[in-house]
Amino acid sequence: NIFDGFVNSSDRDYAINDKRETAQTALQQVRRQLGKTYLPIINGQAVQTDNYVESVNPANSSQVVGKIGLASIEQAEAAVQVAKNAFASWKKLSAKERGDILRKAADIMEEKREELVAWICWEVAKPIREGDGEVSEAIDFCRYYAKEMERLESGVQRNLPGEDNTYIYQPRGVVVVISPWNFPFAIALGMSVGAIAAGNTVILKPAEQSSVIGAKIAEVLQAAGLPTGVFTYLPAKGSTVGSHLVKHPDVHLIAFTGSQQVGCQIVTEASILRPKQKHMKRVIAEMGGKNGIIIDESADLDQAVVGVMNSAFGFAGQKCSACSRAIVLAPVYDNFLERLVEATRSLKVGEAHLPDTKFSAVIDGAAQQNILNYIAKGKETAKLAFEGEVPNHGFYVPPTIFSDVDPDSAIAQEEIFGPVLAVIKAQSFDEALAIANGTDFALTGGLYSRTPSHIERAYREFEVGNLYINRGITGALVDRHPFGGFKLSGIGSKAGGRDYLLQFLEPRSITENT
Ligand code: NAD
Ligand code: ALA
Repeated sequence: NIFDGFVNSSDRDYAINDKRETAQTALQQVRRQLGKTYLPIINGQAVQTDNYVESVNPANSSQVVGKIGLASIEQAEAAVQVAKNAFASWKKLSAKERGDILRKAADIMEEKREELVAWICWEVAKPIREGDGEVSEAIDFCRYYAKEMERLESGVQRNLPGEDNTYIYQPRGVVVVISPWNFPFAIALGMSVGAIAAGNTVILKPAEQSSVIGAKIAEVLQAAGLPTGVFTYLPAKGSTVGSHLVKHPDVHLIAFTGSQQVGCQIVTEASILRPKQKHMKRVIAEMGGKNGIIIDESADLDQAVVGVMNSAFGFAGQKCSACSRAIVLAPVYDNFLERLVEATRSLKVGEAHLPDTKFSAVIDGAAQQNILNYIAKGKETAKLAFEGEVPNHGFYVPPTIFSDVDPDSAIAQEEIFGPVLAVIKAQSFDEALAIANGTDFALTGGLYSRTPSHIERAYREFEVGNLYINRGITGALVDRHPFGGFKLSGIGSKAGGRDYLLQFLEPRSITENT
């Protein structure tokens, strides 16, 4: 049994009044700390910067969550030197010694869970329940990768008469982690602790929009006792400093999660051998999706409506795993659409910190405008089935459903990364599968069906990294649902799965003639 006893951290049960009150108290405590300045931390020291950016609450953009000092190229150079020096000693620790620090970090996150959820909520407008899930995932990453590295460290011994063969792994060196804002805590931390568990040192360049949460990651790892230099918090502009780090000859691996456009650019830049570079770089690039759920004529529509709605509009559709296409078989199309629209109408819209909010603002003004442009395009090419109402402060975009969508149109093909769902009619299950597979992406996908032959075909023919049957398509759990895609959704093994750490390691084979 490969799932030997890993237990996922439990989310808070907000049905319990006490838990809701504790969450609200933490939100108010954190609110009083908003507006502080966060600087890059190089070799354990906060360093002054020339440039700053304000991170604001997307649901109330006049509220400054933090002022971020943006690192310069020179400071990035210093960070690489520090990471390079720290690698010499960090790589010598056993997997258990490194893992114990990560397990301590996990315990600290359990203790500070409400506070961390509050920071996520204020900085990226993620509703409390979803922020809580993110903290659970971050805790799981620490415990899972600590355990995984202990398994890998033992290597493989294959001894024959006269010959001993040893297969072992060694860390690669300096890892640059470039993270997105949509899972600002779990993804940034997950990529970092994967690299660290494997014995590498890390420079984290968080997304500009969520750099306060990046600083919280630094605080947790420091409190857990991670030696200075093993992890560097380097808030900076992606297009300048991020790009510089990708090209740096002393960087061994880039762990990136973000858009397809930036991912492809990183893969290209990292493939060029630079002066004094003595290795080829490895890139892990987890990118976008255009995820579809098929609802066939045998589906339980009660389940399907809720599953599609939550997958499409959770965190305002800003998950790489979100459902942006519902592909519905003709016999149930009208019924499904009508019920989906009514369910979506009931979504509670508002500021993310309010206990009953299910749907809040999108990350920033640029994202808001981009999504509104797609909605305008949708109005020209499809039928508007539903457009919700949203407040006029903050970066809100209404939950929007288009019906009778042409599967080849822009709103059915391009990643919008917002609360826009394209509902597409299919005449047969064959056609539904062809539509589902008919994009450049292969991240998540789903099927609602009670027809065994359809379920069996989906196992074999639905081209996605994570397929979900008769449930929503977001919320992968570490170890249970290792997460990641293929085609243009990414290159890399699945986060929270058994192959993930191998990417941060070099295998070595040693043969001794005895
Ligand atoms: P983004 O690509 O705009 O930014 C991601 C990171 O790249 C940021 O830290 C940014 O500063 C940095 N960056 C930008 N330009 C760079 C450059 N030239 N060189 C180096 N770094 C650079 O993505 P985003 O808007 O933060 O996140 C949303 C995207 O992430 C969506 O496409 C979503 O699907 C994807 N995503 C994928 C997964 C997955 O697991 N597959 C998970 C979450 C998000
Ligand atoms: N791992 C995240 C999810 O499954 C992206 O929703």
